[in-house]
Amino acid sequence: MILSYKVILHALDLAALSTEHSQYKDWWWKVQIGKCYYRLGMYREAEKQFKSALKQQEMVDTFLYLAKVYISLDQPVTALNLFKQGLDKFPGEVTLLCGIARIYEEMNNMSSAAEYYKEVLKQDNTHVEAIACIGSNHFYSDQPEIALRFYRRLLQMGIYNGQLFNNLGLCCFYAQQYDMTLTSFERALSLAENEEEAADVWYNLGHVAVGIGDTNLAHQCFRLALVNNNNHAEAYNNLAVLEMRKGHVEQARALLQTASSLAPHMYEPHFNFATISDKIGDLQRSYVAAQKSEAAFPDHVDTQHLIKQLRQHFAML
Ligand SMILES: *[C@@H]1O[C@H](CO)[C@@H](O)[C@H](O)[C@H]1NC(C)=O
Repeated sequence: MILSYKVILHALDLAALSTEHSQYKDWWWKVQIGKCYYRLGMYREAEKQFKSALKQQEMVDTFLYLAKVYISLDQPVTALNLFKQGLDKFPGEVTLLCGIARIYEEMNNMSSAAEYYKEVLKQDNTHVEAIACIGSNHFYSDQPEIALRFYRRLLQMGIYNGQLFNNLGLCCFYAQQYDMTLTSFERALSLAENEEEAADVWYNLGHVAVGIGDTNLAHQCFRLALVNNNNHAEAYNNLAVLEMRKGHVEQARALLQTASSLAPHMYEPHFNFATISDKIGDLQRSYVAAQKSEAAFPDHVDTQHLIKQLRQHFAML
């Protein structure tokens, strides 16, 4: 339901009168006022009302609303602590567990996100978001067979969309179930709801092509990913790697620069740029890029190795 601005103001008036009438003792009206303030974008006022309501009566919904305020104020850690406080009062509450998991997911802390989603599944073993997240977590921990089980479960539950088939396709490939791989990707392409989703399918197909050693096909797939989504940083990066293998150094460097300007937080384009530049003797730029790679991924062994090598080289000059 979408309330218009004017309706919210009326609602706010009504709620304010009612809370006054109850001599500020009714937590329910405070929550209603808080919701109005939230809809009007007055987050600090909303926070005050929800906090005051929580002091009178701890309710799951109020915790959720207050957390929404903190997320809107870009204070995920405060929201996280609030959810945990809510869980102390309402142990095992799925909405609170999910709230925590989503924040960890946003923070890119997948292991903690998966931990909370596992708690969600203990309470509700048909929770789609939880199953999907745990599945992808297994995939990225090099356990594609286990990830496959989670995605299959989503299929059994009647979930039927492009993203699911895209994930299934990649899992099948890495779990060496080749017969399912291409049909999954085909279905993912036919179900893709927009060009960005289609780009992600072509990108994954590019990976499969690299995996079976067909670099021409891989090249075409990554190009098609870019046709569908001109901002696909990973596709630029992978195309650069293919160009590098063909010895097209300048093309590769240009693609990597595009990739790193689109996604400065990714370490791969910086690292690849550093590696090529090192190979062609452009040590200065190699060093600069290697440092960016280190900033994005401090524990990356190959980056550390390259930086050490470059420092030794500079010391000899
Ligand atoms: C994830 O969050 C947990 C709990 O806050 C923390 O102990 C852990 O270091 C985090 N991991 C990463 C990779 O940030």
